[in-house]
Amino acid sequence: MNTRYEHISILGLGAMGRALADALLGAGREVTVWNRSAGKAGELVARGAKEASSVGEAVAAGDLTVICLLDDASVRETLTPVLSDLTGTTLVNVTSGSVRQARALAGWLEGHGVRFLAGGIMAVPQSVGTPGAFILYSGPRDLFDRVAPVLGPMGRAHWVGEDAGFAALYDMAALSGMYGMGAGTDHAVTLVHAEGGDLETFKREVLRPWLEQMLPISVDGADASASVPDEYNPAMQAVGLENLLAASGEAGVPAELAGHLSASLWRMRRAVANG
Ligand SMILES: NC(=O)c1ccc[n+]([C@@H]2O[C@H](COP(=O)([O-])OP(=O)(O)OC[C@H]3O[C@@H](n4cnc5c(N)ncnc54)[C@H](OP(=O)(O)O)[C@@H]3O)[C@@H](O)[C@H]2O)c1
Repeated sequence: MNTRYEHISILGLGAMGRALADALLGAGREVTVWNRSAGKAGELVARGAKEASSVGEAVAAGDLTVICLLDDASVRETLTPVLSDLTGTTLVNVTSGSVRQARALAGWLEGHGVRFLAGGIMAVPQSVGTPGAFILYSGPRDLFDRVAPVLGPMGRAHWVGEDAGFAALYDMAALSGMYGMGAGTDHAVTLVHAEGGDLETFKREVLRPWLEQMLPISVDGADASASVPDEYNPAMQAVGLENLLAASGEAGVPAELAGHLSASLWRMRRAVANG
């Protein structure tokens, strides 16, 4: 059993797989790559990667295989034909998927004698390997401890628990926060634009400093019970949200873009009704 993890194979050369391979090559790792469609390995091979002509060849070449495909179905479709060759190998799946999919995949692969870690990439291809990038991992802690220094160049490695589903759980939940923020900022600039405001000034002088001020309050104050603390004054907030929705309607902003405000209004009205 080779557990030194000096040679890494990557399955999947989409935008993210290429970025991961590039970061590992940049850190001097030995890298073998495989992709379903031909023609995506050229630049990586020019930088020193080896290209495998099959999944089995790629897995056999590496001490550790990182899987970065589209979704859970593509991972299973890719691994199923080589399942019997995976026994004794180490696989790290950073393909996005649901919590249940991650747990099921871990059970399936561990049942075939695979050492397995699930991952969730908290980066975009352009930020892979930069100081802000991090990757969530879940699964056996001892395996994480051995793998983390090897995969560190892809992004800071952060273990979130033995439960294989937790990397996906925290990844999905963080994405929910991101999309919520994106929905709010999209609505904000649409409203400003619709009423003739200057977008650059608004973004730089108002939106960014306001969100920077509110981010810690918003994250620290988040509550899984969907209750609203008294100091938030839900009655006042409900009126404010009604005003905001009215302003949005007056400006002709599509109601769909203000969906996040309706969710907040529902929460505030519920808090008021519950006393
Ligand atoms: N891009 C991002 O910003 C980002 C950020 C965080 C996490 N992620 C996650 O990283 C993963 C990869 O994202 P990406 O941006 O690299 O996506 P992408 O550019 O669309 O690449 C998808 C990859 O999956 C392969 N693939 C799709 N279906 C397949 C199948 N049935 N069998 C084998 N291979 C298959 C594609 O191969 P072909 O070239 O042959 O089509 C390609 O290598 C996703 O799970 C994504 O959610 C991405």
